[in-house]
Amino acid sequence: MDTLSTFSLWIFVLCMDFVKGYSQEAPTKQIVALLGDDVVLPCFMKSPVDTSNLQLEWARTDLTPGFIYLRGKLEENLELKQPSYVGRTSLSFDKLKHGDVSLTLFKVQLSDEGPYRCFIPQLGQRSYVHLIVGSASTPVIKVMSIISSRVVLQCESAGWYPEPELLWLDGEGNLLSAGPTETLRGPDDLYTVSSRVTVEKRHSNNITCRVQQRNTNQSRETHKHVPGKSHLVCPSQVVAMMGDDVVLPCQLKLAVDTNSETVNWIKPGLDPNVVHLHFDGQLVFENQHPSYHFRTRVFEDELIKGNVSLKIFKVKLSDEGTYRCSIPWIREEASIVLTVGSASTPVIKVMPIVSSRVVLQCESAGWYPEPELLWLDGEGNLLSAGPTETLRGPDDLYTVSSRVTVEKRHSNNITCRVQQRNTNQSRETHVHGVILDSFIPLLHVVIIMGFFCFLAVWIVCFQLLKTKTEVVLSFYWTEEDANLSSADRQILKHVRGIQQQKQMFHPEAAEPSELC
Ligand SMILES: *[C@@H]1O[C@H](CO)[C@@H](O)[C@H](O)[C@H]1NC(C)=O
Ligand SMILES: *[C@@H]1O[C@H](CO)[C@@H](O)[C@H](O)[C@H]1NC(C)=O
Ligand SMILES: *[C@@H]1O[C@H](CO)[C@@H](O)[C@H](O)[C@H]1NC(C)=O
Ligand SMILES: *[C@@H]1O[C@H](CO)[C@@H](O)[C@H](O)[C@H]1NC(C)=O
Ligand SMILES: *[C@@H]1O[C@H](CO)[C@@H](O)[C@H](O)[C@H]1NC(C)=O
Repeated sequence: MDTLSTFSLWIFVLCMDFVKGYSQEAPTKQIVALLGDDVVLPCFMKSPVDTSNLQLEWARTDLTPGFIYLRGKLEENLELKQPSYVGRTSLSFDKLKHGDVSLTLFKVQLSDEGPYRCFIPQLGQRSYVHLIVGSASTPVIKVMSIISSRVVLQCESAGWYPEPELLWLDGEGNLLSAGPTETLRGPDDLYTVSSRVTVEKRHSNNITCRVQQRNTNQSRETHKHVPGKSHLVCPSQVVAMMGDDVVLPCQLKLAVDTNSETVNWIKPGLDPNVVHLHFDGQLVFENQHPSYHFRTRVFEDELIKGNVSLKIFKVKLSDEGTYRCSIPWIREEASIVLTVGSASTPVIKVMPIVSSRVVLQCESAGWYPEPELLWLDGEGNLLSAGPTETLRGPDDLYTVSSRVTVEKRHSNNITCRVQQRNTNQSRETHVHGVILDSFIPLLHVVIIMGFFCFLAVWIVCFQLLKTKTEVVLSFYWTEEDANLSSADRQILKHVRGIQQQKQMFHPEAAEPSELC
């Protein structure tokens, strides 16, 4: 191997002058690769010969020794390989068989730029490639200032190689005269270019910043629409129910891309008053009022179309109020009032009274703002009812209740309606005559219940008396009269039965009974 490498090195060194002579016949091919990409350095034999077991060299002709790939009969010789190419080169064995000696270079670096030579000593064939390494990135346009109808735009593009040029074009593709291009070179050797231009605000003004590099044939551009007056339109009011999500819909009349611009939603009176600040394409969390943390969003896809709507999740009562949306760079601003409501279905209770009439009570909890309560008959006529009692809970929600006295009629269909005009909420509950009819007047209930109670008491007492009599009689038999004849027993039973009954119905004559 050592002898082979040394031999190749000698050949290479000897050939340096020779190469120059050849370059006229085989013109150097230019290959452009972008930083970080993989690139194929092409090299083909004039006729498709099998080169798989031939010695082969790929070298940088501007370095000594400049081997980047050196192959003996069967395998690569790594000893003379340029360190910066280790692990970044590859040759296809299959392609070698057909005379394709192209080298793939992975993850191109800026230092890879330079002249390359492909050489097969045994065939005396060589070819040259010049690799150009470039780097490009899309420019970003920012609005720097707006003075009356004039807007100062800045275009910046970082990460270029080689040094690019920057152009400003108007909507018709004409060059605009702009300030000088500032160029900075970073420690990574990449260039950052920037330039400013002043343009008029006009509806049709669509400005382009183009950054281009001729050697690498790279060009990147960004457009900025600099509109004239584009009214921000929001409805004056939006109603949301507590706990729901709501969108505060605001739209620029002319579609202006606002995603890369500042969109600020504030709630005047709040401290801090920022509800959602969209800056540089994202929410600025630090400025946001804590009560809106994780509860707001704007719509990136819609911002591009000038839709700056704000969504608020899980609306709270405290979210109620005026919101203002502003887009500073076009000086647009609009306000929108959010009204928050809460509603719930009322419940009707029937309170029985002693007459042909009933009292109905209707109650509904969990309202906001304060609602009104109405009683209606089957034909939708207002019923005159007692005053509405209103209670406000610690959660700021209202509970309303009211009573009405109505006739029990089969056809009577009574409605309790609770409604709130600001939030346009209405809930109602019906109670029908059939249900009212089934309510028995209180007096009847008392009489019937009294009768049943009396009956129950009577039955219980009767049962207990009967039990006691039997117990006493059986006691008499077992204690003293075991030897009496059956005739005697009959007589005795009769006599004692009478005595027993006397005791029962004249308890004061005997021991007092605790039973009844
Ligand atoms: C501005 O012009 C470019 C092409 O020059 C076009 O792609 C882009 O949509 C235009 N933007 C607007 C807002 O008209
Ligand atoms: C430059 O690139 C464009 C497309 O990006 C291509 O059409 C053109 O042929 C290229 N020119 C050169 C000289 O490579
Ligand atoms: C703006 O975007 C929101 C969210 O997608 C949508 O609800 C609303 O209708 C849009 N407004 C307009 C005017 O398109
Ligand atoms: C009572 O009236 C309401 C409308 O006012 C109706 O929806 C409901 O069905 C009626 N109930 C009966 C039992 O007729
Ligand atoms: C109120 O709500 C009803 C339906 O619930 C709807 O038809 C009506 O347009 C709403 N009115 C307002 C002013 O929002």
